[in-house]
Amino acid sequence: MTFRIAPSILSADFARLGEEVRNVVAAGADLIHFDVMDNHYVPNLTIGPLVCAAIRPHVQVPIDVHLMITPVDRIVPDFAKAGANLITFHPEASEHIDRTLALIKECGCKAGLVFNPATPLHYLDHVMDKLDIILLMSVNPGFGGQQFIPAALAKLRVVRARIDAHKAAGGQDIWLEVDGGVKTDNIAEIARAGADTFVAGSAIFSQPDYAAVVQAMRKELATTCS
Ligand code: DX5
Ligand code: ZN
Repeated sequence: MTFRIAPSILSADFARLGEEVRNVVAAGADLIHFDVMDNHYVPNLTIGPLVCAAIRPHVQVPIDVHLMITPVDRIVPDFAKAGANLITFHPEASEHIDRTLALIKECGCKAGLVFNPATPLHYLDHVMDKLDIILLMSVNPGFGGQQFIPAALAKLRVVRARIDAHKAAGGQDIWLEVDGGVKTDNIAEIARAGADTFVAGSAIFSQPDYAAVVQAMRKELATTCS
C-alpha cells in the first residue's frame, strides 16, 4: 500500500506562502492540497489560479487542486496552465460530469470526484473508468480545523470495495483520498477503512515542526501494514 500525505495550504500562513510550501515539502509532503472556494458553492473565499502559478516554482511535488466552486468548467484550463497536476470537483456542482472529467484530462491533469459527507455515491456509477482519484470529505467543505465526521469511515470502506472490485475486473488504479479532520491520532483508523491519500491542514500547519507531524503520521500509517 502506498500512502500519500497531502498538506492543505488552507491552514498555512498566506503572507509567507512560498516559504510555507517549501517547508512542508521539505518535511515530507507527497502532494500540496490546494483548496479553491468561491463563496457560492461553499461559504468561504480562498485562492485561484494566480496563487497556484505563484507556488508552482517553489514545489516539485504534484499540486492537488480541490475545486469547491460552481460552475466548474470555465476555470479548469486556467488551473492546468497554472501548474495543477490533479483537479477534483464536486459532481453536484457540474451540469455535465462526464464532460468535466474529460476536460480535466484533455488539459493534461489527473481527474477526480469529491463527495461531501451526505453526497450519495451513485455519481460513481458511470464514470469509474474515467477517474484517477476519489475524494471523500470527512467534514462539510468550506473551512479548515473542523472535526472528523465518523460516518466517513463506513463510506470509505464502501468506496474501497468499489475500487478493488473495479481493479479486479481489469480497471485502472484509483486513489482514495480523505479530506477533513485528519490528525495523527485518527490517521491509522482512516487508513484501515481504505484511504491511501490523506489531506491534513490544521494538523500540520498549527504545529511548529511540520516534519515531526508528517513523520508521526507515517509511523501511524506503518502500523496498519502489519
Ligand atoms: C475543507 C477543505 C480541507 C481543509 C482541511 O473544505 O477541503 O482541505 O483544509 O483542513 P483540516 O485538515 O484542518 O480539517
Ligand atoms: Zn480540500
